[in-house]
Amino acid sequence: MIGSSGSTIRQLFNSMSGGYDRFNTGISLGLHRIWQRQAVDCVKPGMRVLDLGTGTGDLAFLSAQRLLGRGEVVGVDFSEAMLALAQNKCIHDPQSGLIRWVRGGAADFFIPEPRFDAVLCGFLLRNVQDEIHQVLARIRDGLRPGGVLSVLDVFRPESAWRRGFLRLFMRTAGTLWARVTLKDPRAIRYFEESISRFLTAQETCDLLMREGFGDVCCRSLFGGAVYHLQAIRL
Ligand SMILES: C[S@@+](CC[C@H](N)C(=O)[O-])C[C@H]1O[C@@H](n2cnc3c(N)ncnc32)[C@H](O)[C@@H]1O
Repeated sequence: MIGSSGSTIRQLFNSMSGGYDRFNTGISLGLHRIWQRQAVDCVKPGMRVLDLGTGTGDLAFLSAQRLLGRGEVVGVDFSEAMLALAQNKCIHDPQSGLIRWVRGGAADFFIPEPRFDAVLCGFLLRNVQDEIHQVLARIRDGLRPGGVLSVLDVFRPESAWRRGFLRLFMRTAGTLWARVTLKDPRAIRYFEESISRFLTAQETCDLLMREGFGDVCCRSLFGGAVYHLQAIRL
């Protein structure tokens, strides 16, 4: 599936959208709420925030809460089904007036000037690994100098035993839970493949430094299964 067109990946996210939140809660044992709070810790009142690959909008909503009524959040995603779910959640969120939803591809959405103070990428970069240079260039162009990039993702583990453990987990508990929640057998195969072909967290930090970011910091969460990376646009 990796290496296949963006439209195949978009269809996959469209088809799994209905079960995505439940899948996320189960597969992370509910810890994703803590990780999401860490990812939006950089958001302060008055900021302009871009949530790239917003999915069902969790990071966008958390960011809007942190703006305390001042600023804006733009949630971008290429999956119309994911965006529809995000928009539905707006009914229950009093801060949602600060959020704008935009359908677009991470490598080709248009930002006329560096206007964002923070860009969030929750579990997006692995999905755009075939065009990661273009995506990082878009992010760099969209961030003002000094702005923050905050990334959550599952990276390829450094050590063979961690890779083996992750594969085993995906093929047992992950597959079972994906069958129950996502109802698309391609989904878990896609997750496994996307992780095994992706960069390690350290390689991603090195890439960020080559692509115009500095002060890169990398924090391991969930015993190294998930990482939070943060970097400043130079
Ligand atoms: C794993 S979900 C993460 C959603 C959310 N950010 C979160 O933290 O739960 C990845 C999201 O990125 C979107 N996505 C994947 N590739 C994309 C691309 N090339 N352009 C825009 N969105 C993309 C998918 O549609 C999906 O909603």
